[in-house]
Amino acid sequence: MSSKDQLYVKKIRNGTVIDHIDPGHALDVLHILNINGKRGEVVSAVLNVESKLLGRKDIVKIEDRELKPQEVDKIALIAPKASINIVREYEVISKKRVELPRTIKGIIKCNNPSCVVNAREPVTTEFKVEVTEPLRIRCHYCGRIMGKDDVLKQF
Ligand code: CTP
Ligand code: ZN
Repeated sequence: MSSKDQLYVKKIRNGTVIDHIDPGHALDVLHILNINGKRGEVVSAVLNVESKLLGRKDIVKIEDRELKPQEVDKIALIAPKASINIVREYEVISKKRVELPRTIKGIIKCNNPSCVVNAREPVTTEFKVEVTEPLRIRCHYCGRIMGKDDVLKQF
């Protein structure tokens, strides 16, 4: 193995590798997954390393944990090129690219205080994804446009 091919972080035995995260967003991914290190989770994060595909990328490796669909949807909002690799006994047994649905229901709040979804009646939020990169979503109820920074503030 040439030094160029060496891994920044060793392979994991069991767990999830989130690869091809937009550079600089690994810590946002950890935040989405509610990982703060205080519960003894075994996690590594690699930031701004070279990637053939993306120029630069981040990687997060989480041992002994698989992700919930809602967590994957949140990651898709801020890292639309990420791939989720499930590892068992050192082998990648499943590799899926995150997918941003065209309509996002219930994951994020509308940041327009007078939007009907923020009134007392519980209404499930709904956004249409107009542009994936840079992220541009539109509230189905009030038309408010939100971007990646607005979404990140909520996670
Ligand atoms: N990985 C790991 N531990 C393992 C197996 C894989 O940490 N036991 C990591 C690899 O380092 C890589 C990612 O999981 O970051 C995906 O592994 P693999 O599919 O083997 O790598 P590539 O073929 O390079 O993936 P891709 O084509 O998606 O870039
Ligand atoms: Zn709204």
